Amino acid sequence: MDKPEPSSSQIIDSAAAKKRGIWGSKLGFIFAAAGSAIGLGNIWRFPTEAANNGGAAFLLIYIACVLFIGMPVMLAELTLGRHTRKDPVGAIRSVVPRGLWWLAGALGVITGLAILSYYSVVAGWTLGYVVKTVSHTFTPQVDPAKLFGAFAGSWWQEILYHAIFMALCVLVVIGGVKAGIERWSKILMPTLLVVLLLLVVRSVTLPGASSGLSFYLSPDFSKINMKVVVAALGQAFFSLSLGMGAMITYGSYLSKKDNLVTSAAWVSGADSAIAILAGLMVLPALALAGIQPGVDQGGAGLIFAVLPRVFSQMPWQPYGGIIFGAAFFILLALAALTSAVSLLEVVTAYLVDEKGWKRRRATTLVGAVSFAIGIPSALSLGAVGWLSSMVSLQGKEIGFLDLMDKLFGKLSLTFGSLLICLIVAWAWGSDKARKEVQNGNPRFVLGGLWVFLLKYVCPVAIMTILVYLVVDPSVIR
Ligand code: PFF
Repeated sequence: MDKPEPSSSQIIDSAAAKKRGIWGSKLGFIFAAAGSAIGLGNIWRFPTEAANNGGAAFLLIYIACVLFIGMPVMLAELTLGRHTRKDPVGAIRSVVPRGLWWLAGALGVITGLAILSYYSVVAGWTLGYVVKTVSHTFTPQVDPAKLFGAFAGSWWQEILYHAIFMALCVLVVIGGVKAGIERWSKILMPTLLVVLLLLVVRSVTLPGASSGLSFYLSPDFSKINMKVVVAALGQAFFSLSLGMGAMITYGSYLSKKDNLVTSAAWVSGADSAIAILAGLMVLPALALAGIQPGVDQGGAGLIFAVLPRVFSQMPWQPYGGIIFGAAFFILLALAALTSAVSLLEVVTAYLVDEKGWKRRRATTLVGAVSFAIGIPSALSLGAVGWLSSMVSLQGKEIGFLDLMDKLFGKLSLTFGSLLICLIVAWAWGSDKARKEVQNGNPRFVLGGLWVFLLKYVCPVAIMTILVYLVVDPSVIR
């Protein structure tokens, strides 16, 4: 029997697969993209942001930001990536060759390098906490906040774990798209969900959980202000891996047959579900740690200071605590790994596609540079005094790591997302973008809504927030 003729999209796909790699399946992509989205942002950053920004008020605004801004921007990034099959700089250049729009891609590459530098430090803490949990450091008698302080203040542990994590990241990315990133994400993400669910059950049944729960779940609309909106939008971009081209890069390995709309919906849905669950795990536990919800907790160390208390309340002590604690931190480290590889992949894809570097050389060099940039962050939680108080915002001292997160994790991603909207909806053109989405989704029922959100709603909303930030920088915290 004759083999059926390959369709044009199959021909394009197989050429692309040969040249730069392609996801093994749609599900593989969803796991990998969800792997990029789900990470420290969900479990370390989201609960802290929620605790500092009014709990339920934050949650509500966050969900609105994901639905009306995050998802449209994610679809825009995936569309641009798949259409051009390039890294962020190359992708933007090929749809708008004129002008300076490509600088948005360059900003994304720099932002990837910068976020990776401190992300690896925090991910290193999770590795350190695996060791601490297994060696039964967290007994009910010890104060985890003090322990975290001592750990973060130890320069050699900070550097050591930062180095180990960055090395792991480099190894995965050298493995390439399918073998490295996709295979791991498929196993890790579902396991993380199961452990998280069990910990949520324990946390919401803890003595005193109700105050944290009501703070998190019953909205007080009077708490909604510009500070909450800025925090929620910034968190949405960070958590969904938007604004720096990670989804452009991941989209560039997608097949023409894939439905981009359902992919974006699955990834954003899974990411938000995990973040909301992480809030349910952390916020009720604040009371146990003697922390009042709603009072500014600041700090990068919040979950490291709070969660060990939940582990020490698990049944069958000390084994319950050790098993759950270790499983949690191992999974968190792995979730961080699948996110960090996407940060590294953005910079690597740029050097491979634009500069013709070999993947191995590009990855190793980027890993080394990012490690070096991360050293001040690693030392900024107590090991070196002046790095712990770089600037003072509203009487609060801000250390190097927090400063990097504000500049790159919040400001740069927000600005980058604005540029993506402008590039896709205006400079490239919403009609062309819509056509690209229709490969794999010919009807594209929500096309009109998407274009409207991307053209008007997202840019106006993001610009308003950026202008507000210039007028009152203290709202970014
Ligand atoms: N989304 C990741 C997280 O929530 O941990 C962090 C991240 C990855 C941000 C990739 C940006 C990015 F491009």
